[in-house]
Amino acid sequence: MSLLNEIEELRSNFLIDLKSVETSQEVETLKVKYLGKKGPIQQLMMALKTCEKDQRPKLGQLINSLKQEFSSHCESSLARLNNQEQLKKFTEEKIDITLPGRRKRPGRAHPITQMLDRCISILKEMGFAVQHGPDVDSVFYNFEGLNFPPDHPAMDMQDTFWISDDMVLRTHTSNVQVRVMEANEPPIRVIAPGRCFRNETISARSHVFFHQIEGFYIDAHVSFADLLATMNEFWSKLFNRDVQTRFRPSYFPFVEPGMEVDIKCTCKTGCRICKYTGWLEVCGAGMIHPEVLKSGGIDPEKYSGYAWGMGIERLALLEYDIPDIRMFTENDIRFLQQFS
Ligand code: PHE
Repeated sequence: MSLLNEIEELRSNFLIDLKSVETSQEVETLKVKYLGKKGPIQQLMMALKTCEKDQRPKLGQLINSLKQEFSSHCESSLARLNNQEQLKKFTEEKIDITLPGRRKRPGRAHPITQMLDRCISILKEMGFAVQHGPDVDSVFYNFEGLNFPPDHPAMDMQDTFWISDDMVLRTHTSNVQVRVMEANEPPIRVIAPGRCFRNETISARSHVFFHQIEGFYIDAHVSFADLLATMNEFWSKLFNRDVQTRFRPSYFPFVEPGMEVDIKCTCKTGCRICKYTGWLEVCGAGMIHPEVLKSGGIDPEKYSGYAWGMGIERLALLEYDIPDIRMFTENDIRFLQQFS
């Protein structure tokens, strides 16, 4: 049989074989059978050598185009069958491929973390270093070292979670003060962010745990004016506007004088957030009591300091106009997604 006839016969055999192919796997087998190293195409190429010299280019071209024809048949069958097989798999698995894809929602920081981070970065810029205190602390650091008299109501079972006779869940971040004083020489310029715990009835405005940032500065000649200036700068930076502050006398055993700081509300006429007073209560503050400096091993004759402590939940409630503190811990994704 001439090479030409062989080529024709091979083509018709291939086409018959191709017709009976039903799976992509079978196409792969067909490919190997016809186009593989020991397949008929390769054999035809070898046979070419025995042909007349002048016939060779033409026959060579024919064999090459046959090879291309086979391989393009195989590729298109493969594409078609792969597609069909995948569709079949989806239907069998009961996947509705017409459904829109599921959007992946990126995670984000919790609104309380965002507020903490904002405060921390402003205060760091103002020269304060971050120190962390323990959540479970001794009565000394949480109360006694801070000049709480032994019969102070805060130490009552009703207000404080007691772990043992002399250990409590810290009720405020002020527990960091004496610890830092013991370990450092003035000048001390520290902030202490963290979680605090109080044995209170949970309501829209208070929870059994919450976050505070404590700030304090101890050096020679630290004055009340320094506290004022620091407060004004911090609150203005946090709320991104010129903030007017107001200091109301208040009592905390660890400061003298002690006060509460209010900032002027943005409303002109009184609103729900400021409870129609025009002022927002934002933190406790004061000049560190000489007894507290002594507890920390610092000579109150040589040094003075100021301290303040602010509740982060409260700031976030104000900033985002959130009606209920419990929303922060319910982990409702619809709530959390609003804080990007
Ligand atoms: N520790 C006080 C509180 O939790 C706040 C405070 C801190 C007040 C520092 C004065 C000075 O209410």
